[in-house]
Amino acid sequence: MNAQDLNKKKAAEFATKYIEAGMTVGLGTGSTVAFFLDALAEKNIEFTGVTTSNRTAARGAELGLKIVDVDEVDHIDVTVDGADQVDTYLNGIKGGGAALLMEKIVAKNSNKNIWIVDESKVKPTLGTFPLPVEVVPYGSGQLERKLAAKGLNPTFRMTDAGEKLVTDGGHYILDLHLNGIDSPELLSQFLSNEIGVVEHGLFLNTADTVIVGGDEIQVLDR
Ligand code: 5RP
Repeated sequence: MNAQDLNKKKAAEFATKYIEAGMTVGLGTGSTVAFFLDALAEKNIEFTGVTTSNRTAARGAELGLKIVDVDEVDHIDVTVDGADQVDTYLNGIKGGGAALLMEKIVAKNSNKNIWIVDESKVKPTLGTFPLPVEVVPYGSGQLERKLAAKGLNPTFRMTDAGEKLVTDGGHYILDLHLNGIDSPELLSQFLSNEIGVVEHGLFLNTADTVIVGGDEIQVLDR
């Protein structure tokens, strides 16, 4: 296992301390969350998991975890998810795994949000990781041109087979290649107001706690 994966695993294992028997737990998506699912299964705690993607639902079922959809629960105690980049205000970019829409819905319905990341993802400002924007396929070419004209450098996320990637929600992803984001709030507002944008990967004021895996574990609280 490489150093980054080892640090993801450390953060993921540490996060299991926050999970108690009987809780309803939002389960994010990605390789760091995969380590978290393994660690939870090993701990053998009884909990209800709320999925954020088909991938997480399938992996959870394989591990014998109880997995339900967000509409099947009346509350979510805590959600544990990964992130692609986190800044010093604990704002983040998510969606590298194309699950940002369901991740944001689950996060917004959670009493507490914990992110698990390796230390390479913590940056003073956001934006060197491409910002994913989930868009309705109809008119997405027009939207791509509009975002390009604004200097936001969009590219469609493609599959290995060379086709446009389709999310679990049936949408496309436009990744914005930015050198940095001066004002995440303004960009968030701009993107949310664009017709055809379903959701974007700026997760502002969402994480309550970020667990950073490195030589030592760092716990950053909002
Ligand atoms: C998926 C996400 C992931 O949490 C993010 O991409 C981090 O992934 P990984 O843990 O594989 O580095 O937002 O949509």
